Parts: sequence; C-alpha cells; structure tokens
Amino acid sequence: MTTLAIYPGSFDPLTYGHLDVISRAVRIYSRVIVALAENSNKTSLFSFEERVLMLREATDGINGVEVDAFKGLVTDFAQKKGTNVLIRGLRMTSDFEYEFQMALTNRRMAESVETVFLMPSEKYSFLSSTLIKEIARLGGDLSSFVPPCVEKRLLERLQK
Ligand code: PNS
Repeated sequence: MTTLAIYPGSFDPLTYGHLDVISRAVRIYSRVIVALAENSNKTSLFSFEERVLMLREATDGINGVEVDAFKGLVTDFAQKKGTNVLIRGLRMTSDFEYEFQMALTNRRMAESVETVFLMPSEKYSFLSSTLIKEIARLGGDLSSFVPPCVEKRLLERLQK
C-alpha cells in the first residue's frame, strides 16, 4: 500500500478549497506532494515561482506536506516519485466531466495510476481560483477564500 500521494494542479492561486483537500489527503496518506504543473496550458496570473512560494507559505507547518513542481506528464512525475496515487478535489457535479476525462486519460497513460477524489468542505464547494481573481479585481473581500499570503499578493497584483 502506498503512503505517498501526489496532489497536482495549477494553483493560480491556491485557495482555502485546495488547503482543505490537502488537509484531508494527509489524514489518509502519510506524505502528500503538492505538485505544481509547470507546463499547464492555462495562462496564469502568477508566475511559476510566485505560485511555488505561495504553496510553500500556505502549507508550512502542515505535517506530511511537501511542495514540488513538474514538467511533462503527471503520471511520469508520480511514477518517478514512487507512487500510483493522484489526488484531485471534486467540488460539484460540474467538475465531474473534466475530472473523469483526466482520470481515465491518466489511467491510459499509466495503468497503475489511480485518481482519488476528495470532496472539500461544503464551505468551499463553490470556490474557484478564476472567481477569486475576479473578486480581487473588483475589490471584494477575499479573506474567507484565500490564506493571507495569497490575499496580499492578489491585492498587490490586481488592485493597482
Ligand atoms: O488545477 P488544474 O488546472 O485543474 O490542474 C490540471 C493539471 C495541472 C492537474 C493537469 O493539467 C495536468 O496534470 N497537467 C500535467 C500534464 C499532463 O499530465 N496532462 C495530461 C492530463 S490527462
């Protein structure tokens, strides 16, 4: 049985929803690598380095969590790290189609890799990095959506 899981994503930026999934994952797996995908085809607000820094700051002090990054296929990264478990958060049924497609594609890429879906608290089931960026742009209160280290950077970046 594996004790290590990979939690991949683009984390642009990290939200309390991601942190909730991370805290659930470490209750199941003794080590969780939060893995920033370097070559995500989405255009990101924050640079790769900024996102790594925010992930490190926000997860500092959570036992069993490490932050890493990868280029290329997530299945190759998982296998390189010696695990076959990927964690993904599932918020609402609208996530399902994308996640289902990704999980099955990853399974085709590497038959042994399994995706484990964790549901964040219902408090965060509506949260999305995209909406958070819009709220930041429009001057809304972000404190219940993102940790302070992310809020500070969002304000610096978007409220000029
Ligand atoms: O947070 P996101 O943007 O929903 O995360 C998507 C991510 C980064 C997990 C996915 O795009 C990914 O795994 N990218 C790495 C490249 C890869 O393996 N692509 C095939 C996925 S089926």
